[in-house]
Amino acid sequence: MNRINKWLVAMTLEEKVGQLNMLASSQAVTGPGNRRAVEEDIRAGRIGSLLNLWGGNQARAVQRIAVDESRLGIPLLLTLDVIHGHRTIFPVPLAEACLFDPDLWEKTARAAAAEATLDGIALTFAPMLDVARDPRWGRIVEGPGEDPWVASQFAAAKTRGFQGDDLGAAHSLAAVAKHLCAYGAVTAGREYASADLSDRTLREIYLPPFSAAVAAGTAAIMPAFIDIAGVPMTANAPLLQGWLRGQLGFEGVLISDYNAVAELLNHGVAKDIAEAAALALKAGVDIDMMSNAYTQGLPEALERGLVTMGEIDASVRRVLELKERLGLFDDPYRRGSAKPETGDARALAREAARRAIVLLSCKGDILPLSPDIGHVALIGPLAAAPGEMVGPWSSAGLGDDAVSFLDGLKAALPECRIDSASGVDVDSQSLQGIPAAVELCRNAELTVLCLGEDVSMSGEAASRTDLDLPGCQRTLAEKVLDLGKPVVVLLSSGRPLVSPWLFERADAVLATWFLGSEAGNAVADVLTGKFNPTGKLAITWPRNVGQVPVFYGQRPTGRPTKAGERYTSSYLDLPVTPQFPFGHGLSYSRFTLSDLRCSPSCAKPGESVEISLMVRNDSLADGEATLFLFVRDLVASVARPLLELKAFRKIALSVGEQGWVNWTLPIDSLNFVGLDLRPVLEPGQFEIHVGQSADPGELLTTIFELIP
Ligand code: NOJ
Repeated sequence: MNRINKWLVAMTLEEKVGQLNMLASSQAVTGPGNRRAVEEDIRAGRIGSLLNLWGGNQARAVQRIAVDESRLGIPLLLTLDVIHGHRTIFPVPLAEACLFDPDLWEKTARAAAAEATLDGIALTFAPMLDVARDPRWGRIVEGPGEDPWVASQFAAAKTRGFQGDDLGAAHSLAAVAKHLCAYGAVTAGREYASADLSDRTLREIYLPPFSAAVAAGTAAIMPAFIDIAGVPMTANAPLLQGWLRGQLGFEGVLISDYNAVAELLNHGVAKDIAEAAALALKAGVDIDMMSNAYTQGLPEALERGLVTMGEIDASVRRVLELKERLGLFDDPYRRGSAKPETGDARALAREAARRAIVLLSCKGDILPLSPDIGHVALIGPLAAAPGEMVGPWSSAGLGDDAVSFLDGLKAALPECRIDSASGVDVDSQSLQGIPAAVELCRNAELTVLCLGEDVSMSGEAASRTDLDLPGCQRTLAEKVLDLGKPVVVLLSSGRPLVSPWLFERADAVLATWFLGSEAGNAVADVLTGKFNPTGKLAITWPRNVGQVPVFYGQRPTGRPTKAGERYTSSYLDLPVTPQFPFGHGLSYSRFTLSDLRCSPSCAKPGESVEISLMVRNDSLADGEATLFLFVRDLVASVARPLLELKAFRKIALSVGEQGWVNWTLPIDSLNFVGLDLRPVLEPGQFEIHVGQSADPGELLTTIFELIP
């Protein structure tokens, strides 16, 4: 009998339920009273995993209690939200999505795993794979943007990066794909609200990234807090048991979100804790994070016949199997002992950060800055704010270790005089500092305005309705712009900010998101032209909150938009087009696209077509172009979106250089969710569109036919 079977025979009910119980270990390290309670619970086998404890020594100490002092000596699973770096912080996921670079996505996850495992962590609650199209929702910052195909590539890359080739290796972290599913579709972008959407939308938009994570071997999955049309995901047997375990064959662990099992009472689907525990367990949720619903409710649920011992055993087995795969039974102290052979995490952070910056607008040749520039004013509440650079979910990363915009620019321009002032706070009503800040701008050759949100304004529980600059930042910006001197804006945020006035008036605006530990150096690289920007928006940028949700993959309508014409799909008071389309992002280079070809022009299921395109660098700067390949299925049994992303590719071209970009498009990838909600591939004509963004006016188009 293997050790898991032996344990299952030897365990008491309390010990079994203990393996399904995850508590926050901050209780174990912060309060002496609680510390004893948690330690006693570990000793008694009542806790199987902990979250929020890290550090080699702390991890070893707490593990020793489980291994040496509990009856069966089963090691603990130590877990943490390692979302975009651990000690070295990389750009927030929404910013990282703008890299459109699976290789870098994987590398930053690998580097995060190396640092987190050194701190004793074995599992991270990442990647977050919620497709999101509503920037009012604060958690849009944590995910890969609006597109399900991009999210699927992101899912695979991050899972590979965290888990490596061998989950048992000392520097591998178990990944948790979260939050299954449709959390990004909460009503009106309001945190923790319901989502109500069709089965088709679930299958087309929200489930594919999770299929991709499962295909990449994710060790665990976290159901979302929310309910979908009245069925809380924590108790959603059709999706968790039916789709995930049944259809996809997922055999890993399901971990509830924080307190979500007990919250089934608030949802109004369970009348007591035993019912809540039974609903979650029967839906397939193995680990109860933080709600104590399993410890309090499962024994009673068993007595009342709401669950069987077989169901409890199945969950315990999955948890023990995960611990085994992580190598915890062979060596519970493996993580936290050996320093990995990794590259330079700071250099990687700088590379990821400068690639995540999106040059949103740029008039004339204001950027890059002239190498002879002698006097700059760096103004705004985010100019010298290292703590704000790391963004939400910064794990063990410290703001003090991050490079501010001011420090980055000073290091890059040692000969230049740089005057700095905040002018206003991020979100206060005080105008006091504005006159002095404006005075600094009056005397400078150029002003860099550092505006946006602070870290608390995005992430969990940070939904907002007004997406313009918070506080009095607009007043500051307008006073500076009124001087009529050159102004470049660095816009820090976890979501697109809706400030059309700013894009109209400023000479250049860069989305600088929350770029992480190397933010200031990365921004200096781009401003000085040491690095030619390549970041592309992974999310459509609205002009007005009233347009939300606005995304590129719209379906055709019976009355297509015609600007200024009534009775077409439009608004009376605003264009339907966004401020910036998906994929938008300027460069100091200019690229010309030509010769889009598709060969052969007819193909059958199982075959593929070759698509090629010529790209020429028509500018005076070496640069890198990103090309997006979209398709449109012209006639199908279910109306297909006007554009659907199927691939992207980058090409580096020096001044005057040209090169071909080629794709092989498998015909089977053109399947869609048919009338019966099953995948179907239908013959007919498909348009192929290639461009540098989803802006329909900029796309090259060709056509091919799928024949039976
Ligand atoms: C709640 C969040 O929804 C989830 O994403 C996170 O992993 C847990 N808290 C643990 O911190």
